[in-house]
Amino acid sequence: MHVLIVLDHPNPASFTAAAAQRFADGATDAGHSVELADLNAEGFDPRWTMDDATADGIAPAQPDVAREQARIERADAICLAFPLFWWGMPAMTKGWVDRVWTWNWAYDQLDDREKSLQRARSGVLLIPAGARSDDMTDAGYLNALETAWMQGTFGYFGFSPRQMHILYGATGSLPRRQALLQQSYDIGHSLPLPSA
Ligand SMILES: Cc1cc2nc3c(=O)[nH]c(=O)nc-3n(C[C@H](O)[C@H](O)[C@H](O)COP(=O)(O)O)c2cc1C
Repeated sequence: MHVLIVLDHPNPASFTAAAAQRFADGATDAGHSVELADLNAEGFDPRWTMDDATADGIAPAQPDVAREQARIERADAICLAFPLFWWGMPAMTKGWVDRVWTWNWAYDQLDDREKSLQRARSGVLLIPAGARSDDMTDAGYLNALETAWMQGTFGYFGFSPRQMHILYGATGSLPRRQALLQQSYDIGHSLPLPSA
């Protein structure tokens, strides 16, 4: 498969960048080709502006959006790697999602969250987080993210099957972080094929 990794972190030495790299290593070792979209390094503009509002699936996409859409079109699998910020996506990832997955290109209805205009792609959310697993579960954050992202967003984009991996305790001890990097490698190595 051809795998697109969308990385959101300004620091190349971050844990998030390391997790994305280990995911890429696993995917490469499994025989996949890998393409990296390093949104911060490339200077992607996440702001949803008046140009986006007026185009909104009617006018041709702006060049930067068209470039991201072309990346997606040649991918069979997509991994979004971003740190958990305030129980959600950082602004860069959010803006990339908002601007790139447009009406009439990604989806054209809101009734069926499993129906996309895009072909099925194997989808992975790889999300380092400071929190512990039981903290997130007990407070309801995990359920909230599963509802918003796994049920409510990525089905419209054709992510199937889709996986959400929270890398809990990513700011923790070295052994903890090493285990999470091994987990990232394993996720990349065992990527499932797209399922329609
Ligand atoms: C602005 C900001 C918001 C954050 N919000 C959360 C949060 O809501 N939940 C959480 O578990 N960790 C949160 N964190 C911690 C990050 O997820 C953590 O620093 C990151 O996963 C560590 O990886 P890094 O070295 O790649 O930044 C936040 C960090 C920052 C800077």
